[in-house]
Amino acid sequence: MKNGYELFVRPLLFSLDAETAHHVTVRSLGRASHFDAALRVVKSFQLPPKPKTLFSLNFPNPIGLAAGLDKNGVALPAWAALGFGFIEIGTVTAKAQPGNPKPRIFRLPEQQALINRLGFNNDGADAIAHRLAMLLASGRWPAVPVGINLGKSRVTPLEQATDDYLYSFRMLRDFADYITLNISSPNTPGLRELQEPERLSELLHAIGDEAGTASKPLVVKISPDLSAAELTAILAVCEENGVSGIIAANTTLDHSTIPPQLDQEGGLSGAPLRDKSTALVREIAAQCKIPVIASGGIFDPESALEKFQAGAQLIQLYTGLIYRGPQLLREIMESL
Ligand SMILES: Cc1cc2nc3c(=O)[nH]c(=O)nc-3n(C[C@H](O)[C@H](O)[C@H](O)COP(=O)(O)O)c2cc1C
Repeated sequence: MKNGYELFVRPLLFSLDAETAHHVTVRSLGRASHFDAALRVVKSFQLPPKPKTLFSLNFPNPIGLAAGLDKNGVALPAWAALGFGFIEIGTVTAKAQPGNPKPRIFRLPEQQALINRLGFNNDGADAIAHRLAMLLASGRWPAVPVGINLGKSRVTPLEQATDDYLYSFRMLRDFADYITLNISSPNTPGLRELQEPERLSELLHAIGDEAGTASKPLVVKISPDLSAAELTAILAVCEENGVSGIIAANTTLDHSTIPPQLDQEGGLSGAPLRDKSTALVREIAAQCKIPVIASGGIFDPESALEKFQAGAQLIQLYTGLIYRGPQLLREIMESL
């Protein structure tokens, strides 16, 4: 049976093109974030907490908002009011950038999937740090852990990627409960090369040498398209450098399940990613002790439980939320 969002809200949002629908949603939640009365209405849907402690942080529940939905950190109080146990904003880059030409988000309802080639459109580290400082000063900072996901600016050559990440890290670390290094989005040329052991090692060393890093959990977000050997090498580098968590996984470039006439260039997310992401979580849990945050194809309690059974400590939602709405959170919470 369809829930209220699927019956009434989704048809309206899906009558708009995908990126407009995204902006309308995030802007509305951003506005609601400024009003206690609006937040109270949203909050009335909340369920009792299912607390979890990980990297010395207290999560009221293990279900988080995945990176990319609130790239600019405009609606933190509303995400918390909707019931998320943690919120990951970004990807933030050192320099503000417009991203790729539109259209660049595509819905595939039959496949319960999205393809995007946004290319890290975001306001940049300076503007986002300013916005977060204002939120902190307003007293509306959410009572759930906030992760900030960092990526490389498109104009920055790969050789200077470390400086780019370092800049954003310095600007934003004070606002973050944990920092995610995104080295796996497929839409910034060269970014995935940062998963090569030498490059990843350099990046982790540089950030690890920064003052104040010791108390800030570092999380690495990886691609679902790695070979077994690549995965093993990345996990070794992460263990050597005391990485606190791995997010498995980002969007995939494997479009083999998508009919050619519907296919688009970009990263595929949603149901077609489910099995691949679960297998990756299981593999990481088997190979090392670093906690895993699972992301990919979570649409219902069953697909969420599957991630925990594979060894995930926390999960994150994106495409499932677009198709199923905030009721998805409640359904998963009730099944935990
Ligand atoms: C439109 C869109 C934009 C995204 N932007 C980002 C991003 O900026 N940074 C990032 O790390 N992941 C990004 N992601 C990936 C998601 O965070 C998530 O890891 C992936 O979509 C798999 O989860 P899902 O199947 O629940 O969507 C994006 C995904 C989508 C669909």
